[in-house]
Formats: sequence, structure tokens, C-alpha cells
Amino acid sequence: MRLSPSEIACNTARVTVIGSGNVGSALAQRLIEKNIANVVLLDIVEGRPQGLALDLMQARGIEGHDRQILGTNDYADTANSDVVVITAGLPRKPGMSRDDLMLINGKIVLSVAKQAIAHSPNAIFIVVTNPLDQMTHLTWRATGLPLQQVMGMAGVLDSARFQAFIAMELGVSTSDIHATVLGSHGDLMVPLPRYSTVNGIPITELMDAATIERLVDRARHGGAEIVALMKTGSAFYAPASSTCAMVESILYNKQRILPVTTYLQGEYGLKDVFAGVPCRLNCRGVDSVFELSLTPAELAALHESARASQNGIDLLEELLAEQEATA
Ligand code: NAI
Ligand code: 2OP
Repeated sequence: MRLSPSEIACNTARVTVIGSGNVGSALAQRLIEKNIANVVLLDIVEGRPQGLALDLMQARGIEGHDRQILGTNDYADTANSDVVVITAGLPRKPGMSRDDLMLINGKIVLSVAKQAIAHSPNAIFIVVTNPLDQMTHLTWRATGLPLQQVMGMAGVLDSARFQAFIAMELGVSTSDIHATVLGSHGDLMVPLPRYSTVNGIPITELMDAATIERLVDRARHGGAEIVALMKTGSAFYAPASSTCAMVESILYNKQRILPVTTYLQGEYGLKDVFAGVPCRLNCRGVDSVFELSLTPAELAALHESARASQNGIDLLEELLAEQEATA
């Protein structure tokens, strides 16, 4: 069988995952076992990424793939990656908001983004570390990459949660449900029932307002519900699946329309702010933003949510300036 140029490129595609904790290791596993890309798994902790990589290499025969995974603490090993995913940083503990992680994760993200871009100057960066919108802003500023090459993962996860809760409520297949959640990755995210459908039928025609509100609220607090249950960490399987879908659309030039945290430049009436909106993802990164027609109330909620993603940006800009002054 002859491969197309993009398939050939994909066969050698290389994804660096920074942070080999819960999200990073689950993502690395998804990427190689779905035969999407070769992976370099990097962590600051010596031995952990190497051990995980060896374990995953030993599973290859059983899983039936020949993808390579390298565990390392050295950025030189990440050279020429096509995609870099940043998962390094602390997760939330019960009672913590994502914003509580701002400064500590800001320092980590700044450091890893600078080191990664030095070895992969043309990579597309996907940020996962929280607080997501602000860490995406920081990565964009630290790498100096064009806007379309830096994005955050949140909307795919938040929409998947809403999708799961709709399926659980109605007792129908998740595959027949499309759910849409926009905005920042926090309590002010904006689930859109009008654009959430079961086989094309908006859920507003299938459920009463109180039920929808209950599902919306559960989706908004989907991360916190898991933190409260786990007590010592946060969700990682669905976050890894969500990031994997984004990587796949980029590497395979799939042109998927996914909710992605991107820098808005007038779309939805928002300017110079990172927020989650539907985007076309292809080999260039965020190729374009899709503008849904929103009611005044939906638009107001999106604006309020986007404003929240500006919390702490001044602090992060100071961090960046300090780092650049001492570099
Ligand atoms: P984790 O604690 O399991 O893993 C974090 C990893 O980062 C650890 O292995 C740690 O050694 C590593 N690390 C710390 N500093 C580093 C550095 N300077 N260089 C390289 N590696 C470093 O945490 P988990 O559960 O994997 O979550 C990671 C981040 O992702 C958290 O900030 C969490 O809040 C966020 N998250 C975001 C989601 C989203 O929807 N955007 C969903 C789930 C998690
Ligand atoms: C989540 O939504 C913690 O942001 C992470 O699960």
C-alpha cells in the first residue's frame, strides 16, 4: 500500500510530553497504543519517565504496535518534536481552585516552555497545566511562537464531560451526542445546551430546563467532583483522551472542529484574550476559529468567562520579565 505524504510524515511524527505524572503518562500511552506518534516523555524527576517508557515498550508486543517511546530528563532528547504537550506542574487538591496554582505552575511552565522551544523551534504547543488559560498565555509569550501554534486543552474535556452526563441521563449512546462547552477552563465555563444535540436534536427539545441546568452544573464542576473523590490528585484519563484527540487532528491534518483555548482577536467580540472556542485543527495548528451564533445571554456568559481567564496575567507577565532580565 502506498502512503500519502502526510501519512509518511505521521509515521515519523514525534510528540514530546513534558511531565510524566498522571496526565502525561496516560497521554503517552494513548499516543503510542493508538499508533499516533512516537513519544518522548520528559520529567524533572530522574528515573520516572525512563521507567514508564520501558514499561510501555515492554507492552508493545501485547498491544501490537511498534511505536517508540523514550523517557528522559534531558531536553536534547526532545529535539525536532512536531508537537510539545505541557502537563508539568501541580494538580489541584480538594478545596483548591485552578487559580491557586498560578505562581507555582507559572514558574514550572515558563521554565519548561523555554527549554522545549530551544530544541523544537517549529513545534505546535498544547498546554494542559492549570490554570489552563493563563498557562497557555504564558507558553505563547515564553515561546514567541505564532498564535496558531500555541493552544490549550480544556474545551474537548469539558464538552466530553457534558456529553457523558447527557448520555447517562438519557440512557443513549455517547456516540450519538455532540456537546458544546466554550469559555475559560473554570467554574465560569459556558456549556451551550442549544448546541448540544442527540442525533442532531438539541437537548433543549429532549429535557426540561431543570434537568439541563443540573447537567450543566455537573459539567462545570466535573473536575472538582473527581478531585473531591480522589483526594490526592485530579482527573487524568479523560484529559489524556482529550489531548490525544487534539494531537491526532494536528498530526493527521484531520481538520476537526474542536473547542480549543486560543487567542481571540475580535471573534465573539473578544480581543487579546485566550478562551475556549470551536477551532479547526490541522497541521498548522489552530487554522481558524468558528463563530457560533450566540444569544445575548450566551455571549455575555462567554465574555464573563473570558474575563476570568485574565486573572493573574499581570503576575505572569512580571514573572516573564524577571526571567528575561536575568537570562
Ligand atoms: P501529576 O502531579 O501527576 O504530574 C505532574 C508531573 O509534572 C510530575 O511527574 C512532576 O514531576 C512533573 N514536573 C513538575 N515540575 C516539572 C518540571 N519543572 N519539569 C518537568 N516536569 C515537571 O499531575 P497531573 O495529574 O498529571 O496534572 C498535571 C497538570 O495538568 C496539573 O496542573 C493539572 O491541574 C492539569 N490538568 C489540566 C487539565 C485540563 O483540562 N487542562 C485536566 C487535568 C489536569
Ligand atoms: C480537570 O478539569 C483538574 O482541570 C482539571 O479535571
